[in-house]
Amino acid sequence: MKPVVVLYKSLPHDLRQRLEAHCSVIEIDGLTAENLRKHATAFQSAEGLLGSGGLVDDSLLAIAPKLRAVSMISVGYDNVDVAALNRCGVILMHTPTVLTETVADLMMALVLTTARRIVDLAGRVKAGEWKSSIGPDWYGIDVHHKTLGILGMGRIGMALAQRAYGGFSMPVLYNARTHHAEAEQRFNAQYCDLDKLLAESDFLCISLPLTKETHHLIGREQLAKMKPGAVLINTGRGAVVDEPALIDALQTGHLYAAGLDVFTQEPLAVDSALLKLPNVVALPHIGSATHATRYGMAHDAVDNLIAALSGKVTQNCVNPQLLK
Ligand code: GLV
Repeated sequence: MKPVVVLYKSLPHDLRQRLEAHCSVIEIDGLTAENLRKHATAFQSAEGLLGSGGLVDDSLLAIAPKLRAVSMISVGYDNVDVAALNRCGVILMHTPTVLTETVADLMMALVLTTARRIVDLAGRVKAGEWKSSIGPDWYGIDVHHKTLGILGMGRIGMALAQRAYGGFSMPVLYNARTHHAEAEQRFNAQYCDLDKLLAESDFLCISLPLTKETHHLIGREQLAKMKPGAVLINTGRGAVVDEPALIDALQTGHLYAAGLDVFTQEPLAVDSALLKLPNVVALPHIGSATHATRYGMAHDAVDNLIAALSGKVTQNCVNPQLLK
């Protein structure tokens, strides 16, 4: 008998077929509390779970006694209570490699967009405000040769360092849990403590997951330590930054701009003060959102789940201590 899998995000047709060759698939529309109630029978028999976002915690585990593997179509898994999964012996899989270059592209795009005021000025052109030769009030700031600070030197941080150093002649500083010899060797990246990173970066680029340690890591005090006129870019998770404190730092002019793909609350509320600031570029969490990369993520997540349910995991496992 094929194992039952609850699928809570649609898959491209060919990937759905690939999954169905190995599993009996029940598709639901998201992991909402209502859906947990409505599809209780499906969860009761589910050995696998596949999707992205939604809360995977004790309340879900309580109604899914047969669950053996959860496969996220994402690199981040801050929506998953990993300790609870560990207690129940449930394997957690994710997609850490396939989106690296695409997210790094977006980070570099946010650096350029904020520095050169692309969104603000393009909007002014469309609004018919370009009536004569432009003056300094429409100028931006340079990117090339400015210092790029990376908070979190994982795969994405590395890909960003490559772009900044190789493409834009930017000196690279970084802070991470450990030194990264390859980044230092290939991109001349300099390790520094957080205070120095804040004080010396012209562009502070955050590429961190959300954990207890990173929650509000960039708070009021840290924002005050940032170089005046610097730009903050966040494509990691919104809650790494204290959003009200960031809004203040932008409103007072201490920071030049912010490029944000992630927010404490997503979707971002339409009345957020961030949206009223012309120096904020706010995106709808599109770090990995290209056709090719989203397909690649779904592909890897399907393969990850099939591997986990058949005891053949070789990579992409968050809790490998559970593999026997
Ligand atoms: C995107 O934010 C992801 O975690 O894949």
